[in-house]
Amino acid sequence: MVSGNGEEWCEEDSKAMDLEMLRDALISEFQAVNQYREQADMLDDEEAREVVQHIVSEEKEHIAELMKLVLRLDPEQAGKFKELGL
Ligand SMILES: [Fe+2]
Repeated sequence: MVSGNGEEWCEEDSKAMDLEMLRDALISEFQAVNQYREQADMLDDEEAREVVQHIVSEEKEHIAELMKLVLRLDPEQAGKFKELGL
């Protein structure tokens, strides 16, 4: 494939860019889990604490969804998980 400026742009480059974005998104989701978890621990109000703990659970779901995409696009990474029985 050729990009707008005439440079060669292959499918592998596109896949590598997607993987980079997905890995960055994973970092953000892991940081969000830590952040919300710390906040949940500090909240005195029970309802607020439960809502933030629910958000922690949702962030963990996002991690699983993103990891599923990474494993589909990165067979080497998928192999590492498989080696560990994951
Ligand atoms: Fe998220």
